[in-house]
Amino acid sequence: MNKINHSLRVIVFTLLTLATVGAVLPARAQDQKPLPYVSAKGEISMPTGFREKMIYIGSWSLQGQMHEVYTQPESLAAYRKTGAFPDGTVLIKEVRAGDSGLKTTGQVRWAKDEDLQCFVMVKDNYNRFPGNPLWQDGWGWALFKADAPMKQVATSYTADCQACHVPAAATDHVFTEGYPILRIHKP
Ligand code: HEC
Repeated sequence: MNKINHSLRVIVFTLLTLATVGAVLPARAQDQKPLPYVSAKGEISMPTGFREKMIYIGSWSLQGQMHEVYTQPESLAAYRKTGAFPDGTVLIKEVRAGDSGLKTTGQVRWAKDEDLQCFVMVKDNYNRFPGNPLWQDGWGWALFKADAPMKQVATSYTADCQACHVPAAATDHVFTEGYPILRIHKP
C-alpha cells in the first residue's frame, strides 16, 4: 500500500513539475515563425503597400509635421485581447510634412502630400538576432527616408532610437497613449 502511495506521489509531483515548467518557460524556439519584412540576418525591409494592407491606429501632430501610425489588423486584434503586441507585430510611423491654417472649423493642422520618412518597429519575442545593433528591447528598429525610400538607414538602436523611447519603456517602448483604437472600439 505504502509503495503505491509513494509511486502515486512521485507521478503527481512529476506531472505538476512538468506543468509548471511548461507554463513558466519563455517563448519556445520551435514556436518561432519568420518575421514579416525581415531577412534571415535581421535586415528589415520597407513594408511596401502598408497604407492599403495595414490599419491606421493614430497620429501625432507637430509644428510642420504629421505622424501617422499603422499596424497589421491581426496585431491590433491580438493587442485588444491580450494588452500586448504579439511576435511579428509591425508598427510604422509615417512622417509627412504638415501645414496649418484657419479653416471653417477653426485653426487646424493637416498632413501634406510630401512624405519625409518612415520609422519601423518589428516585434521579436525570441531575441532572434542577439548582437545585432538594430534588435534590442524586444523589437527590431528601422528607418527609411524619402530620398531613398527602400533603403534602411538606421545603424544602431542605442544611437538612433533608444533614448527617445525610454519614456515609453513601461508600455513596451510604444507610445500607446496616442492609439486609442488599441483600447476603444465602438461601435
Ligand atoms: C527625437 C526622439 C525620437 C527618436 C530619435 C526616435 N523616436 Fe520613435 N517616437 C518618438 C515619439 C515621441 C513617438 C510618438 C510621438 C511622435 O511621433 O511624435 C515615436 C513613435 C514611434 C513609432 C510609432 C509607435 C510608437 O512607438 O508609438 C515608431 C514605429 C517609432 N517611433 C520608431 C522609431 C525608430 C525605429 C527609431 C530609430 C531609428 C526612432 N523611433 C527614433 C520619439 C523618437
